[in-house]
Amino acid sequence: MLTNKNILLGVCGSIASYKSASLVRLLVKAGANVRVVMTKDACNFITPLTLSTLSKNPVLSNYSDPETGSWNNHVELGLWGDLMIIAPASANTLAKFANGLCDNLLTAVYLSAKCPVYFAPAMDLDMWKHPATQKNISTLVSFGNTMIQPGYGELASGLTGEGRMAEPEAILEFLSNELKKKLPLKGKKALVTAGPTYEAIDPVRFIGNHSSGKMGFAIAEELAALGASVVLVSGPTSLKLSTQGIKRIDVTSAEEMLEAALDNFTGTDISILSAAVADYRPKDISLNKIKKDSSEFQIDLIKTPDILATLGKQKKPGQVLVGFALETNNEEENAIKKLEKKNLDFIVLNSLKDEGAGFKNDSNKITIIDRKLNKETFDLKPKTEVAADICKKVLDLLG
Ligand code: C5P
Repeated sequence: MLTNKNILLGVCGSIASYKSASLVRLLVKAGANVRVVMTKDACNFITPLTLSTLSKNPVLSNYSDPETGSWNNHVELGLWGDLMIIAPASANTLAKFANGLCDNLLTAVYLSAKCPVYFAPAMDLDMWKHPATQKNISTLVSFGNTMIQPGYGELASGLTGEGRMAEPEAILEFLSNELKKKLPLKGKKALVTAGPTYEAIDPVRFIGNHSSGKMGFAIAEELAALGASVVLVSGPTSLKLSTQGIKRIDVTSAEEMLEAALDNFTGTDISILSAAVADYRPKDISLNKIKKDSSEFQIDLIKTPDILATLGKQKKPGQVLVGFALETNNEEENAIKKLEKKNLDFIVLNSLKDEGAGFKNDSNKITIIDRKLNKETFDLKPKTEVAADICKKVLDLLG
């Protein structure tokens, strides 16, 4: 959730300031870009050097740097952040925030920040309980800021009570969950098919194709990254998912893929069928390995079920259904025919004529055609980026 997110971390003066070192480390490990702004008092509790080393960025605490004469632009900082977290947030700084004071870099950055602001208070129990602190917190919450509740336990004063800053791990989890809630496909269900199908001839041989499954896996990962809960029905492939939380169902044949797709289609908001399903399968599967006795050999083939067309017939209003067309000639004409015949919202066309596109490659070159016959052609790009283009079209359709 935090990968490539710009996090502004404000650190106030508190015995809990040392915990901000662990927080910076956790945020950086989670892939975030972290810039730290400290109050002067915070620098008495933990050195800027520690936090700049861990964040891999200079730590700022003054409006200007006396050595270089450069100005630390609080407006630029405020706009840079995707999220601002003040941890530890002292009673003093909370009071300043609540009243719009702007007497140091941190308070100026707070006033300039356009991003969601979170604060993790840390103070002694009586300071925490004081009506002034509680009123300031209510004011900040009324501004749309979010508090990360302090814990109960032994405090630096030796007293026991509420006021301990939430642990860095808990703050990280809190922020990840907050970011998840804001994802555009949060609460949406998605179904993806990927890879080839293998249609058995005998216990040893099968009819299959060169599909690697890379496109479908990239789509499943992208949908999950956008917050959808994803079921991925995959034909035989050696690929592994890098995102946790995607439900993967491994199948072999078209019949099995149909069954898994139907089991998961009801209530699905988005279905993207990218599998290269075999069109025909052997009519009879030999129970024993077929011997090479004769110079010629025929296999009777029968059609496999068209999974996409089956879902297209069952599709209810509001359900988005997307298919692929891998063509070698009359590409657009054939794709439009499929779009209409299979009742799709849009079709993703890729041509085997395009170098670097299609099976096995890590890249693809696609054209998206929708029901209104709007056509958008994309450059050759990595399949992960192609997946993002496809999901963006889905987001547009869902409004
Ligand atoms: O008709 P054609 O096989 O070219 O259609 C391709 C699209 O239909 C792809 O999205 C593919 O996943 C889907 N398909 C399917 N079941 C089949 C054949 C294709 O779901 N039996």
